Amino acid sequence: MADVRQADILIENIAELVTLADGPLPRVGSSLAEATLIADAAVAIRGGEIVAAGAASEVALRWSASTRIDAQGGTVTPGFIDPHTHPVFARTREAEFELRLAGKSYVEIAQAGGGILSSVAALRETDEDRLLEAARRRADGFLRLGTTTIEAKSGYGLSTEAELKMLRVLERLGREHPLDVIPTFLGAHEVPAEYRGRRGDYVRLVIDEMIPAVVESGLARYCDVFCEAHVFDLDDTRVICEAAVEQGLGLRLHVDEIEPLGGAELAAELGAATADHLGAISPGGIEALAASGVQPVLLPGTSFFLQLPSHAPARALIDAGAAPCLATDFNPGSSMTQSMPMILTLACLQYRLTVAEALSMATVNAACSLGIADRVGRVAPGLQADLVIWSVPNHRYLAYHFGESHARCVLKRGRVVFERSLEKELDR
Ligand code: NIG
Ligand code: FE
Repeated sequence: MADVRQADILIENIAELVTLADGPLPRVGSSLAEATLIADAAVAIRGGEIVAAGAASEVALRWSASTRIDAQGGTVTPGFIDPHTHPVFARTREAEFELRLAGKSYVEIAQAGGGILSSVAALRETDEDRLLEAARRRADGFLRLGTTTIEAKSGYGLSTEAELKMLRVLERLGREHPLDVIPTFLGAHEVPAEYRGRRGDYVRLVIDEMIPAVVESGLARYCDVFCEAHVFDLDDTRVICEAAVEQGLGLRLHVDEIEPLGGAELAAELGAATADHLGAISPGGIEALAASGVQPVLLPGTSFFLQLPSHAPARALIDAGAAPCLATDFNPGSSMTQSMPMILTLACLQYRLTVAEALSMATVNAACSLGIADRVGRVAPGLQADLVIWSVPNHRYLAYHFGESHARCVLKRGRVVFERSLEKELDR
């Protein structure tokens, strides 16, 4: 008989385990559709790591554990990695939602001083502790929806002091909360009111003062720019990114969301980690991303919520050989959702993806884009035990039964950080 080894936790009675363990890193082409499913599975966890994941009969032969979790015939996936969020803000913006319903566009609202600038005014007058408190509640929300790691941007401060305040909130959030938070500096999110009509001066401030201060603080891993006709153009984006790269920051860029400016081509030239949005990317941009290995981050929640006229060409990007990701773009203006399951549904519908393709983009590929795929984004021995037990019979059901929170239990580093109450269970 095989030796029985002792684990801390054994998750049993899994109808479908989605491992995403086989295939290239990051996933491209047809490998995106191979989720690597195991029926009737179990997972053993020790010291916060996965030590076994496979057929229940085999895992049970080799592992016993003091704590057993019954998945009750549900589905288990890696925790979602959400690679594009804006979770630190002081006030919500539901009035703008109604302005848009009445016919105003996102850009019109921004140009009238609303949009990002209204978030900036509110954030500047809110102290760090209050921002952290709100961010903590939102971090709980991510976990409840099955997301265990986020990338998170500053960008509602737009002064050196207020940008650093946001980045300190993100640092404290990551330290104090189970959710992992990877910080990005987005000083070039908009031109602040006091620099109106002096965009060039603001770009200099970002380069000469903000980037050095951010780098010195050690509070950001990436730099981002909102490269769009009404905010920062290609030249602005290039000089800001060159300064950031020179000082050791990686790049993740908001490009070609509304107009085909050539931001994707620039992201490729600069060797960015990601090019995000891409609803208006040109054919040349698609080729450039695929050839350079820059990962597209697609944000179907944003094009849905803003009712943008075109969706990102996900299939063309996949056919060209790119390794795309999915994200919520969670923010109070253009995408007020923290739900990666909702993003899966929207991605499948807007882009005609299979659920397995969407899952690869929301886990393993997103982890690759953040340089953390050796630890998270798949279910395999040696990886961190960031896992979600869903009360659904198979992975397809996650995207199919939309508008519902199906997470039953969420584990971060092998610790249960969310469990749905029995009461909720009886409601169903
Ligand atoms: O990704 N594009 C720029 N930033 C956000 C919107 C931020 C806001 O409206 O507050 C986005 O859509
Ligand atoms: Fe964004």
